Amino acid sequence: MTLNLVQAAYIVAAVLFVLSLAGLSKHESAKEGNAFGVTGMALALAATVWGVLDRSAHPLTTFLLIAVAMAVGGAIGLWRARVVEMTQMPELVAMLHSFVGLAAVLVGINSFLTEGDGADAVHSVEVFLGVFIGAVTFTGSIVAFLKLSARIKSSPLMLPARHWLNLAALVVSAGLLVWFVQSHSIIPLLVMTVIALAFGWHLVASIGGGDMPVVVSMLNSYSGWAAAAAGFMLGSDLLIVTGALVGSSGAILSYIMCTAMNRSFFSVIAGGFGQEVSVGDDKDYGEHRETIAADVAELLRDASTVVITPGYGMAVAQAQYPVAELTSQLRKKGVNVRFGIHPVAGRLPGHMNVLLAEAKVPYDIVLEMDEINGDLSDTDVVLVIGANDTVNPSAAEDPGSPIAGMPVLEVWKARNVVVFKRSMATGYAGVQNPLFFKENSQMLFGDAKERVEDIIKAL
Ligand code: TAP
Repeated sequence: MTLNLVQAAYIVAAVLFVLSLAGLSKHESAKEGNAFGVTGMALALAATVWGVLDRSAHPLTTFLLIAVAMAVGGAIGLWRARVVEMTQMPELVAMLHSFVGLAAVLVGINSFLTEGDGADAVHSVEVFLGVFIGAVTFTGSIVAFLKLSARIKSSPLMLPARHWLNLAALVVSAGLLVWFVQSHSIIPLLVMTVIALAFGWHLVASIGGGDMPVVVSMLNSYSGWAAAAAGFMLGSDLLIVTGALVGSSGAILSYIMCTAMNRSFFSVIAGGFGQEVSVGDDKDYGEHRETIAADVAELLRDASTVVITPGYGMAVAQAQYPVAELTSQLRKKGVNVRFGIHPVAGRLPGHMNVLLAEAKVPYDIVLEMDEINGDLSDTDVVLVIGANDTVNPSAAEDPGSPIAGMPVLEVWKARNVVVFKRSMATGYAGVQNPLFFKENSQMLFGDAKERVEDIIKAL
């Protein structure tokens, strides 16, 4: 009876997770999507705990153990989520992925130790693959965390023969799998764990700079497969479904981001291609022009079409609120204001969309790069707020540039461009931006939030 109820709750939770993903794919329904996800997870947790207590010989002890673990985990989770800055979100996500990987390794080894010789070949393969994926996810996510939080250099580690090292790790692991299934010995399992930990570390260490956005979503995908593998080991259908949902949605997102950056999925995973990051270069781009807030206000007053292209600097400055205020003031004056969002603007997929939604910018004026690019040549003023790589013309015009081929917002085609940033420093990819030196460009230096507030005052 209990088992049937638990299974029924799992099915409802799985449906809620699917509805959640569907909801999260659009701005308008994101809140409901989130609510579906939370409800599904609460139901899944309650059903799992209930199922475990029902099977336990010492329900009280089991309950206390689960309660303590959940209280400790929940308290740490709440604390981290409350103190994390929006700009540190990718690091936090990477760190959470590492826990999923570690959990899969522990579940796998535990599953082997408790089943011992009684395990059949299928279960042995599950254990082996679960531990392998978990270990790769664990160390890979730790490296991503260290790179994204600038604790280690984000440039790719280029070991000689790195592709051969990766291949060797896979081939040796395959051999260890055969040994493990035949012998049921813990030695091949442990040797493979060490190899997989090193493999995960190397895989992400050799991906660098501009490819980091893809790494975040790729590790998201790996963590899903690690959870699905744990589901097989524990015989939990819900964990298999949830893991597969996370794994496949992460893989789809990685693919979309690769397309957005014009990179092949396999070259990103293999890592280390064309990543020589040049911090500034010797080329003479000419002089840049500076402007002041009052002049930008004047320019906006005379404009009939304005496009705002935000980037990472808007997140750092938390400028989304004054930007929303400026937008609403200009719209009241009859100016057609729209936003152009690059798929990898910021440091997280959808980073800019989240910030703009937070500041209550209407969704219908927030457009994707492909939707806005065609209209830019017919735009009076583009305000580039804390964006750099995503509006860099050398991606389109300089085949030798490290970001060559990445589709960008073609803001230089507009009649006037105002770039909000604090200095002439480069962006995430470390490449100089010729946009700043174009005749129709002006630099408005300073913190983006303060400068936008100055413009509002001048208006
Ligand atoms: P970036 O190229 O990173 O440039 C951001 C600019 O904002 C910087 O040049 C900086 O110039 C300026 N800035 C920083 N703080 C500011 C402040 N308080 N006020 C005003 N300006 C400020 O930004 P982007 O165009 O959004 O491009 C994103 C980059 O990050 C891409 O290269 C992308 O590949 C990478 N990336 C993306 C992701 C995802 S998933 N979206 C993940 C990892 C990496 P100053 O220092 O001169 O102010």
